[in-house]
Amino acid sequence: MLPPEVLLKMAEPIMHHREPEFEKIFAEIREGLKYLFQTKNEVLIFTSSGTGAMEGAVSNILSKGDKALVVRGGKFGERWAEICKAYEIEFVPIDVEWGKAVNPEQIQKALESNHSIRAVYTQASETSTGVRHPIPEIAEIVKRYEETVLVVDAITGIGVFNLPMDAWGIDVLISGSQKALMLPPGLAFAALSDKAWKFVERSDLPKYYFDFKKELKSSKKNQSSYTPAISLFVGLREALRLIQKEGREGVFQRHERLAMATRAAVKALGLELYAPDSPSNAVTAVKVPGGIDGERLKDLFFEKFGITVAEGQDRAKGKIIRIAHLGYYERLDMVMVISALEMLLKEMGHKFELGTGVKAAEEILMK
Ligand SMILES: Cc1ncc(COP(=O)(O)O)c(C=O)c1O
Repeated sequence: MLPPEVLLKMAEPIMHHREPEFEKIFAEIREGLKYLFQTKNEVLIFTSSGTGAMEGAVSNILSKGDKALVVRGGKFGERWAEICKAYEIEFVPIDVEWGKAVNPEQIQKALESNHSIRAVYTQASETSTGVRHPIPEIAEIVKRYEETVLVVDAITGIGVFNLPMDAWGIDVLISGSQKALMLPPGLAFAALSDKAWKFVERSDLPKYYFDFKKELKSSKKNQSSYTPAISLFVGLREALRLIQKEGREGVFQRHERLAMATRAAVKALGLELYAPDSPSNAVTAVKVPGGIDGERLKDLFFEKFGITVAEGQDRAKGKIIRIAHLGYYERLDMVMVISALEMLLKEMGHKFELGTGVKAAEEILMK
């Protein structure tokens, strides 16, 4: 769901992207993104889905012969590995059991035993499993290696929970428009630390559209290198205004409360979390009770209530459903989805008392 303020702005007639009016919007966006990413450096904007910025974070950061360390604990961790492969970058995978967060010690060990690792690639929030990885601890470790940078895919992290890029020492922080930024898909973001920019200077991997150096130069002139998705930029200015009005802290607290309520509700219904130890505040992955088909449950959400929940991907297919609570969500949205879950589970034969989940959610949402 998107805020009406954003939708209305995006419906306005399209301006030309080399007009002063667009440059004014661009300038405001640059400041808003710095606030959101908590960095003094520029946040680059690309007209692409989030994966474009992920690809750029390989092709611009690494050089031929460099090695990477990839945290692979879900579909999006696997994507880092696939991008490395596409660029013929040798990578050391840390395979994390789905539903679990990476243990920072494993990263420490891998870096100690392999001095040619130039970049650590991870997610802040692994959307496919609902896990939050321990970014501050990982950043503490990577910081000690002058020749290694930390690249964090925060596509479902930015605007959901605190990720102060400069304060924690994250070197590359990536996001996309369609999650907590409350926009349609189509924009990708990448912010780089001073350390990461040095890696960009020497990178010799092929790149063209996702050329960070080129985009930085354009950004500083309040321009994009190529024709941008103008309506999305106009919407982005509005979304950033809304975020700044609510305040970063307010946004994080709202997400935390919605996530806590969702987790409490599903547990009250006798369901298990897929990521109980380190759940992300972006999405709650819930194990579907025995005898119930997760895919069918997901379909029924839409058929009966017009609610979109996600199913599990790959090895989690049919076993989990994922309930999102990031972006333009308020308390009653969660009450509604939990109520729908109760009605569907009841019809499908799961044993519990109606209202138990809603009650557990409400108790947290009222705090
Ligand atoms: C953590 C994470 N990384 C990467 C992506 C891929 O982003 P996109 O589909 O915008 O390319 C997603 C999309 O859901 C995501 O959640």
